[in-house]
Amino acid sequence: MIRSSIKWESDGQNDHGGAMKGASIDSCPANGGHGSHSYSKNSYYQKSSVDIVRIKIEEEIKEKFSTTNLISSSSSSSNTIRLADLGCATGPNTFWTMQYIIDAMKSNLKSPCPNSPKLSPNFQVFFNDQITNDFNTLFLSLPQQRDYFAAAAPGSFYGRLFPDSSIHFVHTAYSIHWLSAVPAEVRDKRSAAWNRGRIHYIGAAEEVVEAYAGGFAADMERFLEARAEEMVGGGIMVMICLGVCDGVSPSQLPFRILYDNLAFALIDMAKEGLLNEDEVDSFNLPMYITCPKEMRKLIEKNGHFSIERIELTESATWVKENIDIRVWINHVRAAMEGTFIEHFKKKELMDEMFERVIRKLSNYPEEINEKLHEKVQLFAVLKRKEDAFLN
Ligand SMILES: C[S@@+](CC[C@H](N)C(=O)[O-])C[C@H]1O[C@@H](n2cnc3c(N)ncnc32)[C@H](O)[C@@H]1O
Repeated sequence: MIRSSIKWESDGQNDHGGAMKGASIDSCPANGGHGSHSYSKNSYYQKSSVDIVRIKIEEEIKEKFSTTNLISSSSSSSNTIRLADLGCATGPNTFWTMQYIIDAMKSNLKSPCPNSPKLSPNFQVFFNDQITNDFNTLFLSLPQQRDYFAAAAPGSFYGRLFPDSSIHFVHTAYSIHWLSAVPAEVRDKRSAAWNRGRIHYIGAAEEVVEAYAGGFAADMERFLEARAEEMVGGGIMVMICLGVCDGVSPSQLPFRILYDNLAFALIDMAKEGLLNEDEVDSFNLPMYITCPKEMRKLIEKNGHFSIERIELTESATWVKENIDIRVWINHVRAAMEGTFIEHFKKKELMDEMFERVIRKLSNYPEEINEKLHEKVQLFAVLKRKEDAFLN
């Protein structure tokens, strides 16, 4: 058993400083509902990206997730395998993923002894996202045909979500690149890391890059510590997020063109008096793009997980011709818009802002297509070590 160093997220306090403050984290959930800018209608790029590693996830489950042993040795008396999808948004991607993971687990089931029948466990899926996520839309669209019990686990995954040693499988896709907070120094005018004229660390001063990297390291420390407490020994965690090759300079990150043009649109709107200049200067996206080397180091520092696999993959192998920039930006908008609205409090300007971004990016179709075919997705599979084997 590891020391329980993290307090419940909902108590508004933690042992690690200010970032884990209940709902007051800087990123906002993906757009709710089923409207034209909703995540439910604009998330098939994420689904297609995760689909690229689906076979690898199924292989890992078949080889390393011993459904039978985990139930037989479970400290609880229940015959239940518990899964969690962290940062599930509103669906439908989460339903599709949870179902194929359960199907892979079922195909692993064996008889515990030669003459006894195969086990038939219950499966319970916890859908996690921030408390402001549109859980109504999520649960209203829950598939009728499913072979798991569904439950919500609201709250930040940078804190505790579940009881000790209760979860057998964790999945998280396109969520952990969202930081719990924009590093305070990047919006402090007196700091060397003040990030005026940009909305992200890509292409920014060294101090800004360091502040973001420090924020990511602190968040991952909390994330891994909480999961280590919650997961059973032998449990598996699959993490999929934006990624970049080891050694690539932050100014060369593949999607710089997107972040630069989002910033240019905001700056133009401030010059035209549509947005307040100070508010544009203080806006930064709480997103960080890690590389395998950095992620490996953080996992090893935590020490509670073995790294079964960590690699970069393409995320857009299905894109054969030039991508439709409007459709791409609609996906970006569905995931990010809330963060802009939260800061600027100008929902009515979002059409204008994203139209400007589409117009600007339409000048670079080849460059964008080239970037889409780089390896920009980090895929990691971790196994919770048995406490007896911790070093
Ligand atoms: C782009 S969506 C990904 C949804 C889904 N996993 C998929 O692959 O389609 C990212 C989600 O992560 C959630 N998220 C970001 N930070 C979070 C945190 N600290 N705790 C819980 N959820 C978080 C957001 O609210 C958002 O709904």
